[in-house]
Amino acid sequence: MVPVLAIDGPTASGKGTVAGLVAERLGWHFLDSGAIYRVLALAAIKRGVGLTDEAALAAQASALDVAFERGAILLEGEDVSLQARREETGNSASKIAALPAVRTALLERQQAFRVAPGLVADGRDMGSVVFPGAFLKIFLTASVESRAERRYKQLIAKGSTASIDDLLRDLRERDARDTSRLVAPLRPCEDAVLLDTTTLSIDEAVHFVLNLAMQRG
Ligand code: C5P
Repeated sequence: MVPVLAIDGPTASGKGTVAGLVAERLGWHFLDSGAIYRVLALAAIKRGVGLTDEAALAAQASALDVAFERGAILLEGEDVSLQARREETGNSASKIAALPAVRTALLERQQAFRVAPGLVADGRDMGSVVFPGAFLKIFLTASVESRAERRYKQLIAKGSTASIDDLLRDLRERDARDTSRLVAPLRPCEDAVLLDTTTLSIDEAVHFVLNLAMQRG
């Protein structure tokens, strides 16, 4: 069976960066499952599908033409990386991600990323639902203040404007929605290793995960 390393955690915890670097170091494939939810939100907005219309969204999820190529996110062949990364797209993604039929429709699509020699999967329910047999499950988190600060610095570095207070409010709202939903709520599974990165650098977090992977592998 192709090994899977699952990294779950809240928004802006740095899990995407850590997961991407771990995949690179291991020479494994990488699944950014949040990007799939983000692209679905963009597709829905493009087609005028309401973000609460569960049946229409699930149908759209089943037919979603999403691809990842050299770091770019493609929707129907068009590079939508910039729109997909916006805060408002993340918020829309979090709304549609609470709908059970949408999650079911995206399940097999995510599982198809399990390809040799291995997969590092980043999301909210990688260890609990999508890849329950993952050989290593990490729940990567950080305080909401440090996550808001990291996101603030990223946005400023990109030349965008941002307000720490707005980011804090958005992160708290998104955390509340992701942890309280009925299907696949964001929480560490019993066999996950908790990694709090509030005071860790990206490098330290990557080393921590790689060391554990070596011990188990
Ligand atoms: O990780 P990212 O911020 O890109 O995810 C966007 C939103 O998609 C999250 O707030 C979450 O609601 C949803 N999501 C999810 N399950 C995943 C990945 C993302 O519900 N496996």
